[in-house]
Amino acid sequence: MECGVGIFTKTAAEWERRRENFMKELDFVFADAVMAIIADFMLVWLPAPTVSLRPPLAVTAGPIAKFFHRCPDNAFQVALSGTSYSLLQRIGAIVRNGSKLFVVGTTASLVGTGVTNALINARKAVDKNFAGEAEEVPLIETSVAYGVYMAVSSNLRYQIVAGVIEQRILEPLLHNQKLWLSALCFAVRTGNTFLGSLLWVDYARWTGVQKIRD
Ligand SMILES: *[C@@H]1O[C@H](CO)[C@@H](O)[C@H](O)[C@H]1NC(C)=O
Repeated sequence: MECGVGIFTKTAAEWERRRENFMKELDFVFADAVMAIIADFMLVWLPAPTVSLRPPLAVTAGPIAKFFHRCPDNAFQVALSGTSYSLLQRIGAIVRNGSKLFVVGTTASLVGTGVTNALINARKAVDKNFAGEAEEVPLIETSVAYGVYMAVSSNLRYQIVAGVIEQRILEPLLHNQKLWLSALCFAVRTGNTFLGSLLWVDYARWTGVQKIRD
């Protein structure tokens, strides 16, 4: 579901941002779509019960591991009655998920950009007219940029979507109307995906990993 909706939403956002440059920058569009889908897949798959990212802590765990283990899932998490989170633990939730998103984003982009470059080179080999105009997408720069983007932008946006909009606004408001609750959460998350793709194109142009073609 996540990946299927993601493809349409991201392609729509790429079109919205690039318009007349969409075809000229199709290699970027393709790389962006592939790496975003791989990142989505990793994020949905990683927390699945078969591979727990938050296993019970070993008794030998160091103080840093212990600190992050006690941080909430979300910086804005509502604490159960009788418990509370300190400001440092809430910041810890952002740092912990941010570092995870950096790894996921960089890995997804290494694969996505690698696949795109392999396809560009394959086409260059058979289509001599294409050889002059096509450039490879810079692998390392794009991947680090995408990792940073996910650790900062995607991380903060998701903290707000899950912790503020869903948990603190929509859930209390609609706890008796589960269908509406699901529909609104779905709309908010899809909107966030669209916004995220728009912002990524701006950021990729701003950092210079995707230069505007004219
Ligand atoms: C942070 O990571 C945990 C563990 O994977 C996850 O359950 C949680 O939803 C994440 N929170 C945010 C705001 O990304």
